[in-house]
Amino acid sequence: MVSESETAPIHALLVSFPGQGHINPLLRLGKRLASKGLFVTFTTPENAGKDLRNANHIVSDKPIPVGDGFLRFEFFEDGWKEDDSRRKNLSEYLAQLELVGKQVISQMIHKYNDSHQPVSCVINNAFVPWVCDVASELNLPCAVLWVQSCAVFSAYYHFFHKLVPFPSDSDPHIDVHLPSLPVLKHDEIPSFLHSHSPYRFIGELILEQIKKLTSPFCVLMDTFEELEKDYIKYMSKFCVIRSVGPLFKNPAKPEDSGRSESDEIRGDLCVKADDCIEWLNSKPSGSVVYISFGSVVFLPQEQVDEIAYALLDSAVSFLWVLKPPHRSLGLPSQVLPGGFLEKTMGRGKVVQWSPQEEVLAHPSVSCFVTHCGWNSSLETLTCGVPVLAFPAWGDQITNAKFLVDVFGVGIRLGRGQDQNKVITRDEVTRCLEDATVGPKAQELKNNSLRWKAAAEAAIADGGSSIRNLEAFVEDVKRMACRVGVRTIEDHSLGTS
Ligand code: UDX
Repeated sequence: MVSESETAPIHALLVSFPGQGHINPLLRLGKRLASKGLFVTFTTPENAGKDLRNANHIVSDKPIPVGDGFLRFEFFEDGWKEDDSRRKNLSEYLAQLELVGKQVISQMIHKYNDSHQPVSCVINNAFVPWVCDVASELNLPCAVLWVQSCAVFSAYYHFFHKLVPFPSDSDPHIDVHLPSLPVLKHDEIPSFLHSHSPYRFIGELILEQIKKLTSPFCVLMDTFEELEKDYIKYMSKFCVIRSVGPLFKNPAKPEDSGRSESDEIRGDLCVKADDCIEWLNSKPSGSVVYISFGSVVFLPQEQVDEIAYALLDSAVSFLWVLKPPHRSLGLPSQVLPGGFLEKTMGRGKVVQWSPQEEVLAHPSVSCFVTHCGWNSSLETLTCGVPVLAFPAWGDQITNAKFLVDVFGVGIRLGRGQDQNKVITRDEVTRCLEDATVGPKAQELKNNSLRWKAAAEAAIADGGSSIRNLEAFVEDVKRMACRVGVRTIEDHSLGTS
């Protein structure tokens, strides 16, 4: 008789948009699902695959054991050469990705069926909403991982279904009243919803995912109940929501001394500097300001100058991620004022990419100057690190509002690119001081530590996110077609 432990794990296919802010949470989810015994195939276009392999020593197609299951990477061609100039145009690329991706993902699923590794469930993130169509056509259960906050989900949902008034060309400055959420000013809603936004096409793409919410049986969210309780409860009237975050933090096993095998599986698209942690170790507790604007935001040179001079003027230590523009953009790198590092005399370090999760968890870090991408926001909340909120566009605008006014962990440095304003060195210096010394800094730190404790509770044994993830795995298992399942050994070896 074949025992349950000898039967094949359920196979989940995870399809990601090839952006850092999308790969990270979906890969983290993949690791969690694998640790629960699923066989996970993670796929994204080869263009990102090349960077992933390079930065993380990933070998495609080789299943990696994670907990009770396996994780495997498989990358696909998007039909354009690496140096195709059309890659600079995101709108054009998204259309190409959909055109090619629909065929490729369908073929991939057929290939796995033919090789007796049938896919039981497909999970996508919101920038590739067409994946839901592929799953529906093949009669496969699908779920979406929403990689932004539930508050932002509510904004897109209400906008799409025209449930409340939003700013428009005729009424551009109205407040937005979303049920159960604080009132959002016109410049606090996700900026892609403004008709004047240069990135309106990204808003349309996200709205396309909202439109397709009839296909997925569930929306997984990288948030946690304690953080967005009322919004999750309210939005659950419209679809099944399972908050499973913070996904970046692996639930600690009692015997764990710290890092686990799956910590080594990372989704970096850039090679990270190796010596950040060593450098932080040399600094006193709570003394370093960490500065990073995520993977996409590219500050104008003038703004980089102002931040640099603020750092020169102040006495703080800092770790600054100054990421060069993506090669496909053909933009010049930003430069720092002449002799910048020498003048800061060892109190500053500039890198092109950092191990951010470890940096934020380091006791030497006092504050995070962030663009408020949702991954960075959740990471900083979970690590108990206060922020200077410096959003650029999209959901970052709304996240900044929540970090500052609702979660109480930050000071606002700007209101986004629409503001069309360079934040001066004096403003940066003043905010840095307020966030690091004195009563305001203490208040922010106390609030941050409360969120840290809440996040840890959500992923502790029996915590809300753990229960939600387990319920999701149970859903997947129930729906899985177990016909023709194979042994776990066959899966890991890829034999037929
Ligand atoms: C994008 C959007 O900009 C963001 O608004 C949306 O919420 C998600 O998609 P991105 O700008 O890259 O994301 O920001 P963010 O969401 O913060 O994700 C960046 C990720 O890269 C984080 O997980 C962060 O830990 C990681 N990172 C960043 C590093 O590992 N090292 C770095 O040096 C910088």
